[in-house]
Amino acid sequence: MAYAAFRSIGAYAPKKILTNEDLSKMVDTSDDWIVKRTGIKERHIAAKDETTSDMGVQAAKKAIERSGIHPNEIDMVVCATISPDYFCMPSTATIISNKLGLGNVTAFDISAACTGFVYILSIAKAFIESGMKKNVLIIGAEKLSAITDYTDRGTCILFGDGAGAAVISATENKDEAIIDIHTGADGTYADLLMTPNGGTGSPHDSLELEAGACFMQMKGNETFKVAVRTLTKDVVEILNDNNIESSKIDHFVPHQANYRIIKAVGDALKMRDEQVVLTVGKFGNTSGASIPMAINEVYESGSLKAGELMLLDAFGGGLTWGSALVPFSPLK
Ligand code: ACO
Repeated sequence: MAYAAFRSIGAYAPKKILTNEDLSKMVDTSDDWIVKRTGIKERHIAAKDETTSDMGVQAAKKAIERSGIHPNEIDMVVCATISPDYFCMPSTATIISNKLGLGNVTAFDISAACTGFVYILSIAKAFIESGMKKNVLIIGAEKLSAITDYTDRGTCILFGDGAGAAVISATENKDEAIIDIHTGADGTYADLLMTPNGGTGSPHDSLELEAGACFMQMKGNETFKVAVRTLTKDVVEILNDNNIESSKIDHFVPHQANYRIIKAVGDALKMRDEQVVLTVGKFGNTSGASIPMAINEVYESGSLKAGELMLLDAFGGGLTWGSALVPFSPLK
C-alpha cells in the first residue's frame, strides 16, 4: 500500500509591511488594542499587480526545490484560497501550474477558508493512498488585502497576504506517513464569516452592488467563541483516536488567527510554549496560507527535523475545521 509523506515546505511573504501604527491612521484603533486582543503586530501586503498565483508560485518553487523531486514528477496541483486570481475560472491552481511549467497535470482549487490547507492535505493523502497520484503539490495562497474592507476596524486589523506550499509524495515506509487527518464543517454558522456578493446567492449587478459587499464580513466575537470550542475538541479527538499524548508533539502548528485563540487551545492541551508555533505577530491571519507559512518559519529557523511530529489545527469560514498529525519526512 502507498502512504503519503510530507516531503517539503516553502513559503513567500510580500515585501510591503502594514504595521498597527499604519492602521491606526486609517481606522479608529491602536497598536495597544490590536496587540492585546490579537497578538498581531504587522502583516505583509501584496503589491497592486501581485496576484495570489504569483505568491503561490514563489512558495511552490521553494517547496519543489527542497523536496528533491523533479518538477516533471508532480502529477497534481491543489490550491486552497478564498482570494483566487479570478472568482469563477480559471482556477488559481491551473495558473500556478502553468507558471511553473508543470504540463498537463490535474489542477484545481478548493474553498475552505482558513482550514483550506488541512483540507488540501487530506485530498493529497487520499489521492496518493488510492494510488491515483504520486507527487502532489499543495498550495495555500491568499491576497486577502484585495477582499478586506479597510474602513472596518473589526476585520482590517486581522488579515495579511502570503503563500505556503508543500510537496506530498507516495512512500512505502509507514514511519514516514501522515498519520491521520480530521476535517469537518457546519453550515449553520455560515453567516459568521462571509463575502456576501458575487455568487448566485447574491449575483453581481454593477448597478445594485452594495458598497463593501465584496469584502469579508465577520461576527468576530461569536466566531472567536466557536473557534476555541471547536479547535480544542478537534485536536483532543485526533490525539485520542491515535493514542498520542500532547507532550509527544514536537510542533503544534495552529491556524494563526488570534494569539488568544492559540493560547486557549494550547493551554487546554497542556502544550509547553516551545511546542507552539506562533507567527500571527508578524503575518496576521493569512487564511489558507497561514499553516504552511508557519511550518516554513520553523523549517527556515532550522528547528524542523526529519521524523519530528507536527500537529496542525485550523478553523475558518463555512464554518470549517480540521486537524492533522504529520511527521516531517524529507527525502534523505
Ligand atoms: N480597535 C479598537 N477597538 C475595536 C477594534 C479595533 N480594531 N475592533 C473592535 N473594537 C471594539 C468593538 O467595537 C467593541 O467596542 P464596544 O465594546 O464599545 O462595542 C470592543 O472593541 C470589543 O469588540 P469585540 O468584537 O467583542 O472584540 P474581541 O475581543 O472579540 O476581538 C476579534 C475582536 C479580534 C475580531 C476577535 O473576536 C477574533 O479574533 N475573532 C475570531 C477571528 C477568527 O478566528 N476568524 C476565523 C478565521 S478567519 C477566516 O476564515 C477567513
